[in-house]
Amino acid sequence: MNKIGIDKINFFTPHLALNMKELAEARKEDPDKYLIGLGQEIMAVIPNTQDTISMAANAADKIINEDNRDKIKLIIFATESGVDNSKSAGVYIQRLLNLPPDIRVIELKEACYAATAGIQLAKDYLSNHSEEQVLLIASDIARYGLNTPGETTQGGGSVAMILKENPQIATISEETKYVSQDLMDFWRPLYSDIAYADGHYSTKVYLEFFKYLWKEFCKEYNENINDFKAMIFHLPFTKLGLKALRLALPTDNDDKKEQLLNDFECARLWNKQIGNLYTGSVYLSLISLLANSSDLHSNDAIGIYSYGSGAEGEFYKINLANNFKQDNFKAIKKMIDNRTIISVDEYEKIFNSTVTTEKNIQLDIDKDPAKFVFAGIKNEQRQYTKH
Ligand code: CAA
Repeated sequence: MNKIGIDKINFFTPHLALNMKELAEARKEDPDKYLIGLGQEIMAVIPNTQDTISMAANAADKIINEDNRDKIKLIIFATESGVDNSKSAGVYIQRLLNLPPDIRVIELKEACYAATAGIQLAKDYLSNHSEEQVLLIASDIARYGLNTPGETTQGGGSVAMILKENPQIATISEETKYVSQDLMDFWRPLYSDIAYADGHYSTKVYLEFFKYLWKEFCKEYNENINDFKAMIFHLPFTKLGLKALRLALPTDNDDKKEQLLNDFECARLWNKQIGNLYTGSVYLSLISLLANSSDLHSNDAIGIYSYGSGAEGEFYKINLANNFKQDNFKAIKKMIDNRTIISVDEYEKIFNSTVTTEKNIQLDIDKDPAKFVFAGIKNEQRQYTKH
């Protein structure tokens, strides 16, 4: 069977950010709690001129070109902070990116897990439609509220991928283990624009699911940690991934342990500077690993632990392909490094200006340098503009 996987991948986050040290001082906490205890340094701040759709358009725009435009026949949009209870966010993307009309478009939801469901669905779809390509987007704004326990684990951004046969970046292995269970560790009722979480319980479930899946995966495929070059994790805050990795580290091979820990540092580097982006989080970590690690080679196996509250988890494997270090990773670094750091006061004003229940509003889009922006609402219809 031909190999199917990730051919292109890109990340977008808006131009504003907040230092976690300053947030800690404003909240009268020891900064080390945020920097070390949670493993977060900078948090993406989402202006009211960006939402899950505009961020997705900005991420996907860079991986669509004249070679793949007409081959994309399926858009899968994974989000848990979507803007419409009926219409798929992907249909807006189709128009904004001038994609042709003969495309199926769907939105997927299962908290932070949905993008992984999208990857596995795309893989199965492409095995039957080998000439086609799939555009998969994971786009979210993690929003818990000012002065809440979840505030430190906010953030936002969008990861877009093209999946196809004979991909450049990584092939998706058949080896996978998944589990789901109806639990209330994190949820967002229809009437609320902020998430509710039973925070400590959610971290417990995250780790228990990983422990279970890792054990079952190793048993079923007769593999162990030495079969993996790197392990990446959903990172609502990066210390949680480290806790999960420690459950799998070898106890009898210090060199391998050190190598896995070093690669984990590469994999969490950019997540430390963004915060949580829900569905896209584990795939930002993949980009961070590929961009920042210098000891990866084609065919290396990477283990991926995807977790979505509510709850669902999957551990699966990818193998790096020949061209996994992509040119656009440099532009991603530049975008992250060049953001404007704002004060806690400005962050709070921006947080409170997010459009939630308005029926008509025109936003000031001039201050937002992104190519695609959310311009407001007219007659209850969301308006998007291209700069
Ligand atoms: N120096 C160093 N470390 C310190 C410290 C200091 N001065 N002070 C505290 N710490 C450490 C604590 O020991 C703790 O680490 P350990 O768990 O390793 O002991 C860490 O900092 C955090 O401290 P607390 O547990 O006291 O922090 P908190 O009560 O503020 O809650 C949280 C943290 C539960 C993650 C909260 O931010 C939250 O509810 N977040 C939202 C829910 C979430 O992200 N859950 C993750 C799993 S669910 C999921 O993955 C889906 C999703 O994306 C939401």
